[in-house]
Amino acid sequence: MATGQIILTRKLRYAIFLVLTINEGGEEQVRETLEGLSGRLRTVSSRNPDAALAAVAGIGSAAWDRLFAGPRPKLLRPFTELKGDVHTAPATPGDLLLHIKSDEMDMCYEVGQILTNDFGDAVSTVEEIHGFRYFDLRDLTGFVDGTENPTGDEALEAILVDGEDPGFRGGSYVTIQRYVTDFDSWTSLSVGEQEDVFGRSKAENIEMDDDVKPSNAHIALNVIEDADGNELEIVRDNMPYGQISGSGDKGTFFIAYSKDPDITGQMLEKMFLGDPIGNYDRLLDFTTAVTGNEYFAPSVDFLDELPP
Ligand code: HEM
Repeated sequence: MATGQIILTRKLRYAIFLVLTINEGGEEQVRETLEGLSGRLRTVSSRNPDAALAAVAGIGSAAWDRLFAGPRPKLLRPFTELKGDVHTAPATPGDLLLHIKSDEMDMCYEVGQILTNDFGDAVSTVEEIHGFRYFDLRDLTGFVDGTENPTGDEALEAILVDGEDPGFRGGSYVTIQRYVTDFDSWTSLSVGEQEDVFGRSKAENIEMDDDVKPSNAHIALNVIEDADGNELEIVRDNMPYGQISGSGDKGTFFIAYSKDPDITGQMLEKMFLGDPIGNYDRLLDFTTAVTGNEYFAPSVDFLDELPP
């Protein structure tokens, strides 16, 4: 089994999300930087091993063909815009993703800065978001996020490509979306109304019984199954981010890993189009998706020795 990048970690306190496009002619420089990623991580990690530094690199669909002549991951595709009656999940530019995370922001900053220098003028930054965990490791809405993520072997099974695409074993598909939350309208809800939005209690984080959980609650729409009734899972590592002054954006940076991007895609369809159609996720009345990309995060073995 090829070694996956370090995707599964405990809930770390900080993250930097860098979304980049590759400039014309920048392909070779990008390849060199990706090949150097493991070494850069080792260098910075050794300065504070307790901070659990990780940096996952993802490559977008169009960028893949610019970087590699050979085969591509079977399910790699661009993010598709989803237009519901009321809410839209837009597709926005992005060739490369760096998901850097650690318990210390200086570690994230350091490796991000070194990699940015390595990329040099081969890339342009679409967006750089610095995320942090809010009190008690919660989302800015005050709810605990990530509870129902699979763990251990189940998590590995959910996110890593295996025999279904042998050339890309150990890789994972990544979907990201930045959400901007309207906190004036969110905080105008009572705690009970907020709990109905998620389908869980706020303080104790307990799931509502099915007979009281609204059908448009976030977690009611995000549980999906295959034809045999097995739950299809993803691993989410969302982070709060935000400006505190003026009208600057604040909200949640959504990031999900899966061995099949269509699992996350099905969840997004249920959220934005609704299930049944029109019964969309109530959370979307308070938070707006402003970006959307998909990537493939290849195994460490792949990155260390890139194919031509
Ligand atoms: C559950 C927050 C976007 C998929 C949850 C929970 C919270 C939450 C608080 C309940 C606790 C937990 O199990 O983690 C948010 C916020 C979002 C967001 C603040 C954006 C602003 C998304 C998106 C997807 C998604 C875009 C999928 C495409 C899920 C799934 C669960 C979940 C699969 C677990 C359902 C279960 O098994 O009970 N989310 N989420 N979330 N969310 Fe989200």
